Amino acid sequence: MRTLVIVGSQWGDEGKGKVTDYLAQEADVVVRSQGGNNAGHTILFDGNKFALRSIPSGIFNPNIKNIMANGMVIDPKQMLEELHGLEARGIKKYQLFVSNRAHIVLPYHSALDGAYEQFKEDKKIGTTKRGIGPTYADKANRIGIRMGEFIQPELFKEQLKTVLKIKNMELQMLGLEPFDFDAIYTEYSKYAEEIKPFVCDTAELLEEEILKNSKVLFEGAQGVMLCLDHGTYPYVTSSSPTGASVPLNSGIAPRYIQDVLGICKAYTTRVGEGPFPTELDGELAHYIRERGHEYGTVTQRPRRVGYLDCVALNYARRISGINHLALMLFDVLSGLDTIKICYAYELDGKIIHTIPATTYDYSRVKPLYIEMPGWKEDITSVTSFDELPIQAQNYIRKVEELTKIKVSLFSVGPDRKQTIVLEELFK
Ligand code: IMP
Repeated sequence: MRTLVIVGSQWGDEGKGKVTDYLAQEADVVVRSQGGNNAGHTILFDGNKFALRSIPSGIFNPNIKNIMANGMVIDPKQMLEELHGLEARGIKKYQLFVSNRAHIVLPYHSALDGAYEQFKEDKKIGTTKRGIGPTYADKANRIGIRMGEFIQPELFKEQLKTVLKIKNMELQMLGLEPFDFDAIYTEYSKYAEEIKPFVCDTAELLEEEILKNSKVLFEGAQGVMLCLDHGTYPYVTSSSPTGASVPLNSGIAPRYIQDVLGICKAYTTRVGEGPFPTELDGELAHYIRERGHEYGTVTQRPRRVGYLDCVALNYARRISGINHLALMLFDVLSGLDTIKICYAYELDGKIIHTIPATTYDYSRVKPLYIEMPGWKEDITSVTSFDELPIQAQNYIRKVEELTKIKVSLFSVGPDRKQTIVLEELFK
C-alpha cells in the first residue's frame, strides 16, 4: 500500500492526528487536502504535546514532505503563528509545500462567520468561527484569493481591492464595521512574503512523488458526518472530509487512491449543533468526557458525548470507501458495567440502517442498542489484542461485525507507544 487516506468516520476529533503521526513514521509525504484551522490535531510523543491546526502532521520528521493542498483554506496569519510556535519548540528542520491554488482566509471571513452565526439565532451551526464557511463561499462565488495571487504583491493588491468592496458591503449589511484596505494589505503582505518560499504547484509535486513510488499519507480533517454533501447538513463544515474528495482536493487522479483508513472513537463525540442520536447526558457523559478529555482543541468547547453509533460508521464506510478501521480512545471505556452500541435506528415505526437526509427526520430517530458487558481493568499499558480483557476483545469484534470493517489498530492512550497495530497498513 503506497497511498493511504485517513478519514474521520464520525463528527471529527476522532484522533486522526495521532494515527497520522504514527503512520507518518513510514511515510515520505503527508498531505492535508481540505479544511483549514478549524481542525485541531493533538499529537503527543516523548512527553511533548503539540496541537496542530493547519500544518500537516508529518512536520516533526525532517525527511517527510508536508503538503498543504489546493482544497485547503489557509489563514496566513494563523499558519505562520503555528509554524513559529513549532520552531520555538525546536521543530526547525521541516519540508513544507503550500499549494498555489489553496484559498486564503482573511479577517473579513472570520467576522462574517461570527455574524452569520449570530443572525441564525436558534439555527446556529456552532462553527469554529475561523472564517472557514465564508472562505469556501467566496471560492464558489469566484471572489476568493488564492495563494498564487497572494504572494505576488501587485496581484494581491488588485484582487483585494475588488473583493473588499463587495465584502465591505456585505459586512455593513450585517451591521458590522467595514475593513480598511491599507490595513489588511500592509499586514498581510508581510505574511505573504514569509509564506512565498513554501508556495508551489503541489499537485505536480504529488504526482511526481506517487510515480516515484513514494509512500503518501492523506491526512483528513473533520469527519464524514461533517461533509458538506453527505453529512448532517446544514450542521456540517464547508468542505468534504471524505475519501472521495481527496483526488479533487489534492489534484491527483482518483485511481491513485486505494485504501481508506477510517478513524473512530470507541464512542462518539460531536462539537457544535445538530442531531446526535446516541448522545448521553448526566453522569455517564461526564465520566466519558473527563476520561477522554473531550474539550475542543480549537475552541475548548466541551464536546457532546454518546455511545458508539454503527449506523453512522456504516454510512461513513459507504460514502468514504473505508476499508480499515482505527478504534481510538478505547481505554476511556474502562470501568463501565455495561456498554451500549447502536446498530440501527427506528424512524416512524420502521427500522432503518442509514442516515436520513433531513435534520427534521434525523432529529427524530431513536437509536436501537445492543448492550455488552464492560470491563474494569485499566488497559492503558496493553501491547496486544490478547492482553485485553475478554469483554474488551468482544467489543472490538462486535464493532467489526456491525460495520463489516476490520479493526486494523486500536489506541489505549495518547502516547505514540499506546497504539496497538493488528494489521500493518503502511509498511
Ligand atoms: P466550521 O468548519 O468552523 O464552519 O464549523 C462547522 C461545524 O463543523 C461545527 O459544528 C464545528 O464544530 C464542526 N467542526 C469543524 N472542524 C471540526 C474539527 O476539526 N473537529 C470537530 N468538529 C469540527
